[in-house]
Amino acid sequence: MRTLIFDTDIGVDDAFALACAARTQNILGITTVFGNVEVGQAVKNARLFCDKMAIDAPVYRGCSRPLALAATSPAKLHGEDGLGDAFENSWSDSAPGAVQFIIDSVRAQPHEITLVAIGPLTNIASAINQAPDIIPLVKELVMMGGAFGTDGHAGNVTPFSEFNIWKDPHAADQVLASMLPVVILPLDVTHKVLITGKEVCQLNQPVLSAICRLYLAHSQQKEGFNGMALHDTLTLSYLCQPDAFQVVNAPVRVITEGISRGQTVRRVTSLASRENPFAGCRAQTLCLGVDAEAVRAHFFATLQA
Ligand code: BDR
Ligand code: CA
Repeated sequence: MRTLIFDTDIGVDDAFALACAARTQNILGITTVFGNVEVGQAVKNARLFCDKMAIDAPVYRGCSRPLALAATSPAKLHGEDGLGDAFENSWSDSAPGAVQFIIDSVRAQPHEITLVAIGPLTNIASAINQAPDIIPLVKELVMMGGAFGTDGHAGNVTPFSEFNIWKDPHAADQVLASMLPVVILPLDVTHKVLITGKEVCQLNQPVLSAICRLYLAHSQQKEGFNGMALHDTLTLSYLCQPDAFQVVNAPVRVITEGISRGQTVRRVTSLASRENPFAGCRAQTLCLGVDAEAVRAHFFATLQA
């Protein structure tokens, strides 16, 4: 069991991931960030979801906008409130600062803390920018984001870019090009692990069923599929069953400008080039293949009530 700081822009699949984390790991704190929702809404959602699911973890308020880009409005895919507009939410949106919490926690427990990040990487980038001394003290960062084109799994916001990276490409590039050890769960694997609406009902978890109703209706209307990709929960799948993933080790960077803004690129050539944007970047662990049935089976076993 790892000690986690769980960094999230909490929408529907983030909430599923949080439920899995609570059942399999020790959550030191939940740090929130803008993304699926505004950061204040993310604070409220984290509190609401923890209350409904009996998860005991403190909530922190993180960054409200990207490092360098203008703020963009939240996606409405997860409902107006990010949790499928299923519940009244009167929780407060004020909370202690997330970035300082990350810095203080990593310093206090060197080499012990796993960061799980399932939204834009703005809090993580801010923490390592403000306190570079924590970089060698983080056990690992396990993140959902990016897309590398395996079997046609490229972007979901643009043909190049996945949502979490697209929202703050500068933060993602700074994190991935740093010396932090990162495990990346991109769309290449998350799009391969799907659950149906019927399977959500079979979990016998009324809160999870309620929050994904709108999301599933949207998917049915848009894709003709009453189901969803598990996306963010794959970070927990990796922690619980790393052997279910096929990985490559390569330095990864992010395009921050132009038509492919937000695209994640890995070094694929060993040929010498005149310029090398990967120089000095460590090889990260990139998941490009997954045993979807093994991950699904573990997901059901973890969450079934
Ligand atoms: C990512 O985008 C968000 O909407 C999901 O929560 C997930 O983190 C998938 O691209
Ligand atoms: Ca997310």
